[in-house]
Amino acid sequence: MSLVRSADDPDGRVVRRGPADDADARRAPSEASPAVHATGLSKRYRRSVAVQGLSMTVNRGEVFGFLGPNGAGKTTTVKLLLGLARPSGGEALVLGAPAGDREARRRVGYLPELFRFPHWLSALEVLVLHCRLLDLPRGRRELVSREALALVGLADRAEHAVGTFSKGMQQRLGLAVALLGEPDLVVLDEPTSALDPVGRHDVREIVRAVRARGATVFLNTHLLSEAEQLCDRVTVIDRGQSVATGTLAELLGGRTTVRLLVTGLPDRWWNAHSSLGRWSRDGDWVVLETGSTDVVPDLVAAVVHRGGQVAAVVPEHQSLEDRFLEILREP
Ligand SMILES: Nc1ncnc2c1ncn2[C@@H]1O[C@H](COP(=O)(O)OP(=O)(O)O)[C@@H](O)[C@H]1O
Ligand SMILES: [Mg+2]
Repeated sequence: MSLVRSADDPDGRVVRRGPADDADARRAPSEASPAVHATGLSKRYRRSVAVQGLSMTVNRGEVFGFLGPNGAGKTTTVKLLLGLARPSGGEALVLGAPAGDREARRRVGYLPELFRFPHWLSALEVLVLHCRLLDLPRGRRELVSREALALVGLADRAEHAVGTFSKGMQQRLGLAVALLGEPDLVVLDEPTSALDPVGRHDVREIVRAVRARGATVFLNTHLLSEAEQLCDRVTVIDRGQSVATGTLAELLGGRTTVRLLVTGLPDRWWNAHSSLGRWSRDGDWVVLETGSTDVVPDLVAAVVHRGGQVAAVVPEHQSLEDRFLEILREP
């Protein structure tokens, strides 16, 4: 018997199901529900508050980036979602079930930030062991394990002891464990931190493959480039709180800076045209913050009409990095 939250029950009441409908329980309630739904999630330690009133929804089938600087509360949040730490407040549903629910947990793959496999086991043994923990049929364990090894590029290392693996190879093995049994939700905590550029590229390809088969990926990262290349949506977390959520395009807000090298115009002309955007000077350049580069042709025409000379126009999209820092500094 398992405790599951019923998706067709609008109050999300916990209902009991008998063994007869266990198979149905494994699918039905979860698929209508978001992959993750957290409300007011908090975690207080004796000396610090790691997560504070965090609410977020991760949709099925998306690669969701949980982006924030070191110490922001990403790992703690993941531990709360997986039932590895108890929240001080709030609640979370994962695949439609309360965080930590054993049945739902079976359908979640997890790559922890820090982990260590017994160094005397071979890569294949590590995976077969996890297949046992997943309760996969005995006859399929080796095949499934070898497939996972091939997926992460370790096929030729199956019989090698983990103790002989580099950090990057151990990270790949951790990823293979997280992908065993085709989980519906794959939670990756800083998956590329120990990897070289080739390894990072491979992880991105694997994450895309996971999404392509319809699963959800929850990706903790402090790397903007990773979020930029992979994530459908992100939540930016800082000091335990969500400070922004959306697609990266939304977070960038479509803001544009246009730098113009213009001579022959007095400052008061720019003041009179403040409707175009906020302007400032940077040496000989005029820096105009505007909604879009669509204003550029009219602007240049107006400058020329007034007798100014335009030597250069350089549109600059705000970089993700600048925007990220701005979000983190916003009060
Ligand atoms: N077990 C713990 N005991 C006390 N403080 C902790 C514990 N785990 C995390 N913290 C604190 O919570 C904050 C968030 O940590 P963490 O979730 O690891 O951040 P991130 O993964 O974003 O780098 C940090 O200030 C950290 O020191
Ligand atoms: Mg962390």
